[in-house]
Amino acid sequence: MTDYNSKIVRWSPATSQLVNTFDSQSLSPKFNFGVKGFLGLKGNNVPTSLLTTTGLDVQLHDARDTNAICDLWITDPPYADAIDYEEISEFFLSWYEKRIPMLFPEWYADAKRILAVKGKGVSFNEAMMQIYTQLTAHMPDNGLQVVMFTHQDAGVWAELAMTLWASGLQVSAAWTVVTETTDGLSGGANNVQATVLLVLRKRGEVETVFDDDILNLMEDEVAKQLKDMQLLEGAGLAWSDADLQLATYAAALRVITSHNIHGLDPHKELLKVRARGEKSPVHLLIEQAAQAATRNLLPRGLDAAVWRDLESHERFYLKGLDTEQKGEHRSGVFQELARSYAASAWRDLLADDRANNVRLMTASEMGGRNVNTGPLAGTLLRHLLLAIQITAREDGPAQGLAGLRDDVPNFAMQHSRAITLLEHLGRLTLPHWKADAEAAQVLRGALMNAGV
Ligand SMILES: C[S@@+](CC[C@H](N)C(=O)[O-])C[C@H]1O[C@@H](n2cnc3c(N)ncnc32)[C@H](O)[C@@H]1O
Repeated sequence: MTDYNSKIVRWSPATSQLVNTFDSQSLSPKFNFGVKGFLGLKGNNVPTSLLTTTGLDVQLHDARDTNAICDLWITDPPYADAIDYEEISEFFLSWYEKRIPMLFPEWYADAKRILAVKGKGVSFNEAMMQIYTQLTAHMPDNGLQVVMFTHQDAGVWAELAMTLWASGLQVSAAWTVVTETTDGLSGGANNVQATVLLVLRKRGEVETVFDDDILNLMEDEVAKQLKDMQLLEGAGLAWSDADLQLATYAAALRVITSHNIHGLDPHKELLKVRARGEKSPVHLLIEQAAQAATRNLLPRGLDAAVWRDLESHERFYLKGLDTEQKGEHRSGVFQELARSYAASAWRDLLADDRANNVRLMTASEMGGRNVNTGPLAGTLLRHLLLAIQITAREDGPAQGLAGLRDDVPNFAMQHSRAITLLEHLGRLTLPHWKADAEAAQVLRGALMNAGV
């Protein structure tokens, strides 16, 4: 009913009816909002079960003081959040603070600023441990918790892992739910599309393992998670790299929280004051596991066998093009890729290095420079880029093709790899790649016709 009786409800002249509140995600009240009268609401099919209030018990508490026993706790914590939730309450309270105590004497009209768990660092970690320890103590052994989480930083994930671990919980499952729609509110292509839901159980007895072993276990789990998600992608779902990254962190958490790590006490780690930039051991583990996994994430449409034989800068370059193709140009993202693929000289491959405009050089922009010295020196990809540039320049494949035969050692052996890579580059739809992508297609055709 509230869905049709708020100031966000508006009249649609096109359909001659009211558009409900949750039709869009924006909080934009109207001056001339619409309302449905009681009879109008009758058609809304409100399930009668939702209108039954018997047996309901709603209580407001500081999460540290919860004292009811529940089989299921669902929390959505303000993790490293930049939002001042108490200010949102105060916005509404400024209208109602006089009336609430009058109409509902047992309620309070105070935003309880002092109790807000916020920020990060030691005091935040301490509060979070208290909350989750309290909730765990108020749940039966077979109970479960669901924690919602979206943060994109491995460090924050590490703290969450240690908080849950220190509170006697383990992650038993994790899945992502699409929370952002493409209704114009979300930003670039790397926006997080999903919230991760972590399912937690009481920890019970767990095995103690060493650093190296836990890392292997994490890498396996993360790889499995990515594979599952890629299968879903085949079924029509589209994940952004950020979604995949979130899911890998969640998988890493599943492993960390279901073991003890030799010599590592999560309580102590959470209460340690760290220097700027200093990373906790769990942070390093999550990062390593996620990097190992992203190394194996191939650019869309590329053949896995070809990918396996590529060198680090070749992988960076192709994955970088894939990233551009998704509309992503932030330098942090490229830096992260370079780290994952151990491509230390990645900057030499950039045509533009401005913070939000990063893009790689095209074949024509690379020209004939650095064929034997740059980051891609000596690789088949570099030779192919040169041949593409020549094909584009000469408006025909003959010279480029001859160059490949003369300059690439054992070219006959690399024939089919060359065709696959050219096919991949020929599919690029980036505007600045137009001429080179066409040249790649022409060159591929010539190579196929010429045989070995
Ligand atoms: C991410 S928001 C939850 C949003 C909510 N799920 C929704 O959809 O509107 C985090 C919430 O935790 C609340 N919070 C902060 N400190 C708290 C505390 N000590 N006890 C209980 N809740 C607290 C904040 O006021 C905020 O509303």
